[in-house]
Amino acid sequence: MKKMILAAASVAALAFAGPAVANPIVIKFSHVVAEKTPKGQAALKFKEEAEKLLPGKVKVEVYPSSQLYGDAKEMEALALGDVQIIAPSLSKFDKFTKQLQVFDLPFLFDNVGAIDRFQQGPEGQKLLTSMASKGFIGLDYWHNGMKQMSANKPLLVPADAKGLKFRVQPSDVLAAQFQQLGANPQKLAFAEVYQALQLGTVDGQENTWSNCYSQKYQEVQKDFTETEHGVIDYMVVTNASWWNGLPKDIQAGLKTAMKAATKVNNDTADQLNLDARKKISESSAKIHTLTPAQRGEWKKAMEPVWAKFEGGIGKDLIQAAQKANGAGKS
Ligand code: SIN
Repeated sequence: MKKMILAAASVAALAFAGPAVANPIVIKFSHVVAEKTPKGQAALKFKEEAEKLLPGKVKVEVYPSSQLYGDAKEMEALALGDVQIIAPSLSKFDKFTKQLQVFDLPFLFDNVGAIDRFQQGPEGQKLLTSMASKGFIGLDYWHNGMKQMSANKPLLVPADAKGLKFRVQPSDVLAAQFQQLGANPQKLAFAEVYQALQLGTVDGQENTWSNCYSQKYQEVQKDFTETEHGVIDYMVVTNASWWNGLPKDIQAGLKTAMKAATKVNNDTADQLNLDARKKISESSAKIHTLTPAQRGEWKKAMEPVWAKFEGGIGKDLIQAAQKANGAGKS
């Protein structure tokens, strides 16, 4: 009798607890920017949506501001499976594929609309799998925006940059772009830029308004010039063998969560950049705008960079990107 009571009690306990729940899949999402940036907000949206759509099945841990891995280590960590999702700027994939260098060609894209058309077109979509043989799969593109330049002097014409040291991302195209101006490019991790500007290790840099403001560059740079000469956008990438090993329902849920995150990112990127521009204009730093003639001078000075990288990128890809500019014009 005692045995029967004990057995009945165990059955009741089991029924209350429900079926045994396996541990959720932990997804570490590491990035290098502040939370109040398009990418920072989108990563948080991805966590919210993924955990809502797959309750108890996934747990997304977001690590902003290079807290877990900085530029130098995040790709290695992804390859080793120490992190599952990262979203580096497109300029940081240089050593994995030359094709993505297309995004770094100066003055290639007229605006973010053109970049979006190119990314969503067949060539852009194909680039998401351009690193598959290296073990990386692109899940989506996220926009940040057009780059501006800063230094402790106005940069109104290319000659103003001559002799200055500029921080660049680890991209040979961006290095060549500054060499073309007679300036000295220094490849530095994002987390090191503020201090390098403060100490004068570098004299200037290029980035979007939201990155400049969230990193407080206005504290260490007197002049910002609205050059819009290039782009900072991201590819959200994952480890191919981890992704391919996920159960189909989890993959589907994560894809839906990614779509929601992409929407948040792309709907807010412009506004976050405009807000950041306004804040910088209200700081002690000055913003300089270029006349069309001055912009033309920058374009001409940087033009030779295209020929240097055309072979690695592929002429077709460059032409498709150029077509995306035209496609937006009525
Ligand atoms: C980022 O937006 O992820 C950082 C880009 C940079 O390194 O300048």
